[in-house]
Amino acid sequence: MSLLGKPTIVSADADFNRYILQSEGKMFENSCPTSIAEILGRWSMLALEGEIHREMRSIAVNFMGNVKLRNYFLPDIEQQALKILHSWKDGSTFSAHEEGKKFAFNLMVKHLMSMDPGMPETVKLRKEYITFMKGMASIPLNLPYTAYRKALQSRSAILKIMGKRLDERVQKIREGSHELEEDDLLASVSTQSNLTRDQILDLILSLLFAGHETSSAAISLAIYFLESSPKALQQLREEHVNIVKMKGESGLTWEDYKQMEFTHCVINETLRLGNIVKFLHRKVIKDVQYKGYDIPCGWELVPIISAAHLDPTIYDDPQTYNPWRWQTISTATSKNNNLMSFSGGPRLCPGAELAKLEMAVFLHHLVQKFNWELAEHDYPVSFPFLGFPKNLPIKVHAIKKLT
Ligand code: HEM
Repeated sequence: MSLLGKPTIVSADADFNRYILQSEGKMFENSCPTSIAEILGRWSMLALEGEIHREMRSIAVNFMGNVKLRNYFLPDIEQQALKILHSWKDGSTFSAHEEGKKFAFNLMVKHLMSMDPGMPETVKLRKEYITFMKGMASIPLNLPYTAYRKALQSRSAILKIMGKRLDERVQKIREGSHELEEDDLLASVSTQSNLTRDQILDLILSLLFAGHETSSAAISLAIYFLESSPKALQQLREEHVNIVKMKGESGLTWEDYKQMEFTHCVINETLRLGNIVKFLHRKVIKDVQYKGYDIPCGWELVPIISAAHLDPTIYDDPQTYNPWRWQTISTATSKNNNLMSFSGGPRLCPGAELAKLEMAVFLHHLVQKFNWELAEHDYPVSFPFLGFPKNLPIKVHAIKKLT
């Protein structure tokens, strides 16, 4: 088919999609739409290929490596989750998706630039970021008063705030007054990389975007699916109550996290059925033959990674939310290979483990503190980023602890 005047193959074939992702850089290459690249910046990791992409990717992978997750992210995720949940009043109604976004945003800006939720700079950054996101999801018309134009203006405002943080940090490092607890992305990029100022700012913005939109959507989806699956919610709650019984009320450890077996089934099932990222953009960089088909160099490709997730030949009754299906799918089976929520190959999402940790820790406290119901009918949609038409309004009921 032809998409925006370019010959394009749209693939819902799980094997071919895996082949595309695994052959990144050899036969296929990332092909980010120009409007997204313009707004995220020319140095955005999501739009780059080649050496500079590899350099930025290794910074991102290091930023969210296992040791960092365990020692640095875990306690902070727990703190941010508790902060959000403590603000929920028994019997109140609010947007669960907004709360998820607040949680993920606060976590990311803290770890990227040591910005705390209450700081005026953080409040301003979030305000600009909301306008920026509206433009990302709009028709890319750079005309006065359009959402796109406003988003480009917000991009400049965001880069100004980030640039100020970066300059202050570089200054501190030069003076030797940089504090150890500021072990954030700014510290590593300004001491250990050769990236230019523009590259650093675009990298931070792409990590904020990639790390905040997606994990907040994942948390909202879990809230949405669990609300209509009381058996799953009950089993999840039992798992978390038992963990607390064994260890007491102290903070979660990595070992506690590893014990959350049913939680991981809930996470996988939420990602499978929720399909936060439905498709990707690639282009063919050399003539390819695949199973008797000739695919010419220069063609565009749209692998629909969500197709496998809803394929009845791969998952029984795929439209049903069934976390238990993951109890029989081991990491070695082909069904697990078909879970492509985080993509695959050399561009596999570097934030996959962080996102799962965020979901698990948030759910750990949520299910112990609250029951909830949808305050109005709502459902997930992609426009193009995953959201809910009514922003997922929920009414919460605090769980009274037995004394
Ligand atoms: C449930 C949550 C998440 C989902 C479903 C998700 C999914 C994805 C997908 C499908 C890609 C595209 C890879 C490709 O083009 O092949 C991606 C890329 C990326 N994600 Fe995530 N992601 C999630 C959370 C996160 C988090 C928490 C971060 C942290 C910052 C993050 C950072 C990134 C980055 C930096 C890339 C670009 C990778 C590259 O170009 O090499 N993601 N993600």
